[in-house]
Order: sequence, then structure tokens, then C-alpha cells
Amino acid sequence: MYMTKRDRYNELRKQIISLIEGEDDLIANMANISSVIHETFGFWWTGFYIVKGDTLVLGPFQGPVACTRIPFGKGVCGTAWKHKETIVVPDVEEFPGHIACSSLSRSEIVVPIFDSNGDVRAVLDIDSKELSTFDETDKANLEMIVAQLSPFFKK
Ligand code: SME
Repeated sequence: MYMTKRDRYNELRKQIISLIEGEDDLIANMANISSVIHETFGFWWTGFYIVKGDTLVLGPFQGPVACTRIPFGKGVCGTAWKHKETIVVPDVEEFPGHIACSSLSRSEIVVPIFDSNGDVRAVLDIDSKELSTFDETDKANLEMIVAQLSPFFKK
């Protein structure tokens, strides 16, 4: 049966709710969320960076080895953190300051994760080997997915 991207996200969101239900460990939940997103869509790299001081530090991910630290305001991840908003990059070569962890990555989306004070505590980063992979459907659904992690960040 053909499923649209929206259908697949609807299934994925339900799956993620049941995956994290009853598990209160942030890292365990990030690990399973990165896996299920990655497997569902066959992305090139899917993972989290976690805010530690003035740096994003690599968290659970699926895919090739990646950069371990990204400073505030740097790259797509650091920019999403700084501006507190999702960034969709149709062509990484057109994004000034893009950090190329993999030369095969062509497009990217970075979604910030907020605590209850509205501070960014982590980001979800997804890379694709194709141009223009991500759109408003990805943005809306991934924002809903990562909102599930907000309660795990205690002040
Ligand atoms: N491209 C990201 C760096 C992280 S990797 O893609 C996994 C950036 O510019 O922030």
C-alpha cells in the first residue's frame, strides 16, 4: 500500500509515543527515536546534539561517525540553537557556515528541543544524501516528535 509522507509520520508519531512510554531516561529515548526515524525514512544521518555549556555535544545517533562538538551559533545546528527555530536547508552548499561532517550530505533539517522555560537543551539533526529532502511536513512532524522529549529536561 502506498503511504504518503504524512501517513508515515502519523504512524511514526504513534510508534514513538509507545516507545518512550514508561521510560524516563533521556538518552535511551533519544537513541530509540533516532533509530526509528532513521529506519522509517532511510535518511543518511539522524541524531541528537545536546547543549552542554556553550557547545552542542554529540548524543545518540544513527549513521556515519559525526563531529562531536558544535559551538553556539556555528553550523546549521548552532544556528538553530541561537535562533531557537527549526532550520530547513535544501542545499547544504548554499548555507554559509554549514559544517560538513560527511561530504555526502546534501540537505538537512535541524529542530531545536526546548525545556519548560523555552531554553534550547538539544537539537535533532537529520541529513539526507539528496537535495531538498525536507519540507514543511517534516518540520511540523519532527517538531511534534521532539516536543515529547521536553519533559525530560529538568531545570
Ligand atoms: N551539518 C551540521 C553538523 C552536524 S552533522 O551534519 C551530523 C551543521 O552544520 O550543524
